[in-house]
Amino acid sequence: MLLSNELRSKYLAFFKEKGHAIIPSASLIPENDPTVLFTTAGMHPLVPFLMGERHPQGKRLADVQKCIRTGDIDSVGDAWHLTFFEMLGNWSLGDYFKKDALAFSFEFLTSRKWLGLDQNRLHVSVFAGDKDAPKDTEAAVIWESLGIPKERIHFLPKSDNWWGPAGQTGPCGPDSEMFFDTQKQVGELVGKTPTEKFSDGCSKGRFVEIWNDVFMQYNKTAHGLFEPLKQKNVDTGMGLERTVAVLNGLSSVYDIDSFKPLMQKIKSLSGAGLFEKNLSSGRIVADHMRSAVFILGDSKGVGPSNTDQGYVLRRLIRRAIRHGKNLGIEKDFSVEVAKVVVGQFGSVYSELGKNQSFIFSELDKEEKKFRDTLGRGMTVLQKALDSVKQSSDRTLDAKIVFDLYQSYGFPPEMTGELCREKGLEVDLDGFQKLLTEHQDLSRKGAEQKFKGGLADHSEETTKLHTATHLLNAALRKVLGPHVFQKGSNITAERLRFDFPNPQKVSEDQLKQVEALVNRMISEGLEVKMEILPYEEAKKSGAMGVFEEKYGDHVKVYTVWNPKTKEVFSKELCGGPHVTNTREIGGFKITKEEGVAAGIRRIKAIVVSP
Ligand code: SER
Repeated sequence: MLLSNELRSKYLAFFKEKGHAIIPSASLIPENDPTVLFTTAGMHPLVPFLMGERHPQGKRLADVQKCIRTGDIDSVGDAWHLTFFEMLGNWSLGDYFKKDALAFSFEFLTSRKWLGLDQNRLHVSVFAGDKDAPKDTEAAVIWESLGIPKERIHFLPKSDNWWGPAGQTGPCGPDSEMFFDTQKQVGELVGKTPTEKFSDGCSKGRFVEIWNDVFMQYNKTAHGLFEPLKQKNVDTGMGLERTVAVLNGLSSVYDIDSFKPLMQKIKSLSGAGLFEKNLSSGRIVADHMRSAVFILGDSKGVGPSNTDQGYVLRRLIRRAIRHGKNLGIEKDFSVEVAKVVVGQFGSVYSELGKNQSFIFSELDKEEKKFRDTLGRGMTVLQKALDSVKQSSDRTLDAKIVFDLYQSYGFPPEMTGELCREKGLEVDLDGFQKLLTEHQDLSRKGAEQKFKGGLADHSEETTKLHTATHLLNAALRKVLGPHVFQKGSNITAERLRFDFPNPQKVSEDQLKQVEALVNRMISEGLEVKMEILPYEEAKKSGAMGVFEEKYGDHVKVYTVWNPKTKEVFSKELCGGPHVTNTREIGGFKITKEEGVAAGIRRIKAIVVSP
């Protein structure tokens, strides 16, 4: 049995031997990146260095990075999904490239001194090439020279073998992935070529990816071009839990050594026979509690709240408690379970030990608060669901979702899940609307209370925030799709917006932009906020800096006409915004100037209509 601690330490020892500096895991809470709530991959905290910034530890780095991906939180409970996981990675910042990267990977996986895998059970994929970048025959030749025969080297397209920003700009490149043949009996593999058979085997779970070597050599520009980066980098990622499971022939990540004490603890707290009957609830409790402990115990740890990371944390804890109910756990249990996590990971992540009293007290507070209202909320929901079952649209009304949220602390996602378990739907859009209206009202109320009715600056900046989105969209319409937000700064008096454009924006163009923004204001478009899983937001075409392949939940603001469904602007943004563009009043551009080669700056103000 390969143990988690063993894989972690072997990995670091191997790369140390190859001249890599071992760096500690960065915080789970990203710095200077408002577009994602959590660190989602090892490369995330290293982006500036991949772009050419000098790293204090040198050009060869290796680490184990704490990651949170809540994008597929709803899949947790099956055999493979986790919201918290550890990612092993090695980096070359403009040092070695393909040849050494692949040779390192191969040696670590197959050498008897390290993992000693049977190389006949390895398949690899390489980039097939397209209009943006050539076919990666170089990687294929290297794999062959290492001993992987042609029929186990598969050329696959960008959708499989490319890492980088799908949206706007940033470092990216082709990758080469390593797969382990689990030799699971999945029936005959279908396909004419070895690669077709391989793809079929992947979808049936016979071949499982264990490592990804990315050759980061391009920067995707705002014009959609792939320009060579200043330096050629290597970014690799190996999911620790998954690799331990696969290499030990286990059929679930929850069966690996580091999950065992946690699962046992949860089982011992459960009612007789209930753990076995509700295995997915047991897994959800284990996963969510692990994530909660790591978020609370982080050096930048946050407590449960109703915004951003704190909200995700609250959702994780409350969902764990509600699934604990499925296991028959009615008394407080989060601290007991958290103690197991801290006991197990404290020696690897010393921050957990340091912050343990914060972890336990926050969990205890949150659990008590929620347990207080959970039972009553469930009764309210149960009654409502009984009548929804009789209704024609079988959809739970937004007002009830809002009431459950407001009075009983039910995260709307949890209410949604409870409805779906009964085959019913839920009006989450309507909930968002009620929430926004409510926040608006309480903001106005608070202003009146504390500021004696004086105009509040925050109201002006909120208007300017939304005006910035309108300006961005209008510039794209008038000047072209090469425009994007390069920089933005808002004070109580004005907005400032920097964007790429090869020449000065003419008087006439400025007039058109201003008129278009004013038209959108007078049309009274609605501003809708949604919290979407990263992948979904990306697919929806929202503008913003997408620098990750997977991710977390992000906030998306859409300015649209709900009647015609016409969307004027859709952007990733932290907010806040007005709820209707009419609130902005009017818009006036006060200045246009150049700030750097190819970068223009517009200053503008909001005015009374
Ligand atoms: N960035 C790649 C990944 O997360 C390799 O580390 O898979």
